[in-house]
Amino acid sequence: MNQPKQYAAPAYVKHARLIAWVNEVAALTEPEAIVWCDGTLQESDKLCELMIAGGSMVKLDPAKRKNSYLVQSDPSDVARVEDRTFVCTPDPEEAGPNNNWEHPDKMKETLRGLFKGCMRGRTMYVVPFSMGPIGSPIAHIGVELSDSPYVVINMRIMTRMGRAVLDQLGSDGIFVPCLHSVGHPLEAGQKDVKWPCNKTKYICHFPETREIWSFGSGYGGNALLGKKCFALRIASTMARDEGWLAEHMLILGVESPQGEKSYVAAAFPSACGKTNFAMLIPPQSMGGWKVTTVGDDIAWIKPGKDGRLYAINPEAGFFGVAPGTSEKTNFNAMATLKENIIFTNVALTDDGDVWWEGMSKEPPAHCIDWQGQDWTPAIAKETGRKAAHPNSRFTAPASQCPSIDKDWENPAGVPISAFIFGGRRSTTVPLVFEAFNWNYGVYMAATLGSETTAAAVGAQGVVRRDPFAMLPFCGYHMGDYFNHWLRIGHQVEHAPRIFTVNWFRQDAQGNFMWPGFGENMRVLKWIVGRCGGKADARQSALGWMPRFEDLDWSGSEDVTKEQFDQLTTIDTDAWREELKLHAEWFDKLKSRLPRSLTLKRELFELAMVD
Ligand code: GTP
Ligand code: SPV
Ligand code: MN
Repeated sequence: MNQPKQYAAPAYVKHARLIAWVNEVAALTEPEAIVWCDGTLQESDKLCELMIAGGSMVKLDPAKRKNSYLVQSDPSDVARVEDRTFVCTPDPEEAGPNNNWEHPDKMKETLRGLFKGCMRGRTMYVVPFSMGPIGSPIAHIGVELSDSPYVVINMRIMTRMGRAVLDQLGSDGIFVPCLHSVGHPLEAGQKDVKWPCNKTKYICHFPETREIWSFGSGYGGNALLGKKCFALRIASTMARDEGWLAEHMLILGVESPQGEKSYVAAAFPSACGKTNFAMLIPPQSMGGWKVTTVGDDIAWIKPGKDGRLYAINPEAGFFGVAPGTSEKTNFNAMATLKENIIFTNVALTDDGDVWWEGMSKEPPAHCIDWQGQDWTPAIAKETGRKAAHPNSRFTAPASQCPSIDKDWENPAGVPISAFIFGGRRSTTVPLVFEAFNWNYGVYMAATLGSETTAAAVGAQGVVRRDPFAMLPFCGYHMGDYFNHWLRIGHQVEHAPRIFTVNWFRQDAQGNFMWPGFGENMRVLKWIVGRCGGKADARQSALGWMPRFEDLDWSGSEDVTKEQFDQLTTIDTDAWREELKLHAEWFDKLKSRLPRSLTLKRELFELAMVD
């Protein structure tokens, strides 16, 4: 068992360096077997059967949801672990105060210790994947080695995965090695648990050598390494070096009743509304506006020859927040979820379907909650126990989304007219405003604040700075990242306009003041109107703001002029406090903070003096 084994790669694998790396990892981790994944449905079905037989997965009733499954994780492994996430560069300054840091040599030593024999009794899967359409000039390839079949079936939906990627790699193509283990070896005869993981967790990035090592968690962004680890943390460093942007942004298309189409990209922190905004259905009363979806979480953005910025979605699926998703709030998501879905940490209904808080007005009379316990509305009332974990998720193929944009896989990307930044703020931040210019916009994004959510382990509802919604995802010093953004904006001839939004302002009773969801179209229409010179605004201390009459209210019954005034009011006392928090945040970035941002802060301070 402890002898390193030799595992032959299939004959079609021609990449000597890849084979050597797989063997090297196998010698270290000592798996029972190695499987090279081909990405077929049969392969995925087989893995599901395996998980069902092992008791870690349930097949939903095909009459309710075809080819769909439910997995419930260990209660200790339910979200990204930001305090166990590291960027390992020789110089700690490179990683910046926004990342946990360790020297690459030291971290590798720690990791080798943890990975030693960590796949015993398990199969190691070789998962070749492409971020972006296979073969497109903007795509980048990774290979994930993982001992989790759950990771394999999720990667198959979230990325272009399988043999076609190896064909593309050929004998010497470049790939990012992504090593993952749940960190739960099985000795001979030892029975597996439902959701193997390890108390010790390390999510490590090595930007210099473009490698990822992840240990101990099987959940989401900790384990599906193409997503946050590759497409954001590693890709952001590639983008810095090569003059493009890797961002935590949705991309949507918006078409006017006259058929004018534009695209916008929006950065909201985790669980702050990207999937919902990307799939928005405009109110019918607004008359023929259409929104189409290019991506819901990540955008790779490059300057085009015509002086505009072009964005692609490197993913192939949605790993979306389940709670709050309903036919009313996100009809397109619900329609996407009809078949071929993996649900994680939602509740199982008695008729073999899934349920989560907010899915329907009437909860089921009984279900099995995400921890495998009986759940009834009465139990919930008594104990406060949720049927679904607040960070429960669905994994869904993007191609199934009814609002998917016809150009969502266009390797050239789509031209971006506006960048939108938004956080979850119960106070202070108005519904919408437009930055006076690029540098002001970068300032607003750089100081974006948001209340923390269940997407990451830790306290919830605490306001923190989440610049560009990238605090947990920027693979290098945030000060350098701001500089990179300033440079890109000045380098392209037609830089997008920059907007700030806040759907989450609350009244004194704690109710959301803005109806949100489809109604966000009223704000989006104003935004694209501003880009096309068709919408008016007034000047405010923060930027250009719509007056009540500047938004299209046709068919709206929700918002009165008084409520709108409250939603867009600038509370100067609150902003003076806010600016202090900006200063505190900027202090952390010290010498690498662009001077123009410090100056902007002083200008805002002056503007807030009554
Ligand atoms: P990640 O996948 O973690 O990056 O999240 P996301 O930014 O895609 O967030 P998502 O769209 O999944 O929304 C998260 C939660 O916010 C869900 O429970 C939604 O129902 C809720 N939400 C989304 N949009 C709005 C809105 O306009 N208003 C309100 N009040 N809630 C919203
Ligand atoms: C997020 O937390 O921003 C997500 C979910 O999109 S995860 O893939 O787990 O990072
Ligand atoms: Mn996200």
